[in-house]
Amino acid sequence: MAVTILIGAQWGDEGKGKIIDVLTEQADMVVRYQGGNNAGHTVEVGEDQYILHLIPSGILHPGKLSVIGNGVVVDPLALLQEIDGLQARGVKIRGNLYVSDAAHVVFPYHRLLDELREQQKGKGKIGTTKRGIGPAYADKVARTGLRMGDLLVPDRFSEKLRRKVRETNDIFRALGSKPLSFAKLNREYLAAAKRLKPLITDTVTLLNAGVRDRQEILFEGAQGTLLDIDFGTYPFVTSSSATAGGACTGAGIPPNRIDRVVGVMKAYTTRVGEGPFPTELVNKQGEALRRAGREFGATTGRPRRCGWFDAVVSRYSVMINGINDLAVTKLDVLDHLPKLRVCVGYKVGRKVYETLPHDADLLQRCRPIYQEFDGWMTPTSHLTEFDQLPKRARVYLRRLAEFSGARLSIVSVGARRSQTIMV
Ligand code: IMP
Repeated sequence: MAVTILIGAQWGDEGKGKIIDVLTEQADMVVRYQGGNNAGHTVEVGEDQYILHLIPSGILHPGKLSVIGNGVVVDPLALLQEIDGLQARGVKIRGNLYVSDAAHVVFPYHRLLDELREQQKGKGKIGTTKRGIGPAYADKVARTGLRMGDLLVPDRFSEKLRRKVRETNDIFRALGSKPLSFAKLNREYLAAAKRLKPLITDTVTLLNAGVRDRQEILFEGAQGTLLDIDFGTYPFVTSSSATAGGACTGAGIPPNRIDRVVGVMKAYTTRVGEGPFPTELVNKQGEALRRAGREFGATTGRPRRCGWFDAVVSRYSVMINGINDLAVTKLDVLDHLPKLRVCVGYKVGRKVYETLPHDADLLQRCRPIYQEFDGWMTPTSHLTEFDQLPKRARVYLRRLAEFSGARLSIVSVGARRSQTIMV
């Protein structure tokens, strides 16, 4: 496996958590490199279900190192809550989890700003998770953010926070919102810092030592390619680099040390939040997919928008991320459908697009060009070998891989680790 990046090839929620969990068996280190607790990775281990937001799923495997890299934005209170929840279920954290000292900190004023900006946008809102992710990255880029390393130097931390709260309270007053108390924030964050201190370290050196020693390293992407700040359907995107390139900048690993990129995609498509989604089914079929696939957000519980597989999106993802291997998830959700459709291009008036337009307004106007497939109408969730799959399911999967331009390597037919077919 060597150094592997796993990314979402659609709009997030592709079922990455489960594939990461399967691949983690072979990994020594599992690394988050972007996003924050806007993510929600659902992992089922035996009868137990875990939903992880910030901590890499490596934590569920004893003896593996889990790393939160510099490219992540960390809400220390949310992290502690996640740690407490895992510890209460017997998961060992000390010595198994490290957080980069260069990762930026998410504060309540980021969450409040996130919410206020969404309110101000009204109909044009992004539909964020309201976890303060956008404003935290904005501070990072504006060079006014605080980093996890600052938490280790209390006086400096308090001084920086005082300045930041003053600045943000001016904005809140202008927006007609209540100012925040510096003293309360300072107290809460310094208390969190005491508990997190043993975990905060120079993860860049730690990870590069792992690369040097030929450890097996798995980078787990959060969100998905179409939510990437540069390559997604801007402005309906998240604020980080959710594509493979983000792993290099978000963890400090050089590009030439990456051996493999695994792209995870559902056998159909979903999206939460606003923004263009050409193959969306705003009808009973969409509702049926949502019900069959239990398509509700792991972080916010919001119903996901559902639609057919979009090969324009998957081709684009393969190109942007350099995907070698495809993992197709939730095949079983399609088991009962007599006919399936795959979008192979878009049309606006008479103009045909075979690649993804970057203009969200144009994408909104795109109508899908579909190819139709016969459904297999047979249960698949108990199958363990590719050859056992119904012929029509194999044809469908092979075509998805061909359309996308990468090798089909994994098929998932259920939430459990055992429901994974290696092709
Ligand atoms: P933010 O990341 O909270 O700023 O939200 C920006 C957009 O990304 C919204 O459309 C969210 O619904 C979407 N988003 C953020 N995190 C996830 C995720 O983990 N899965 C799917 N969508 C996400």
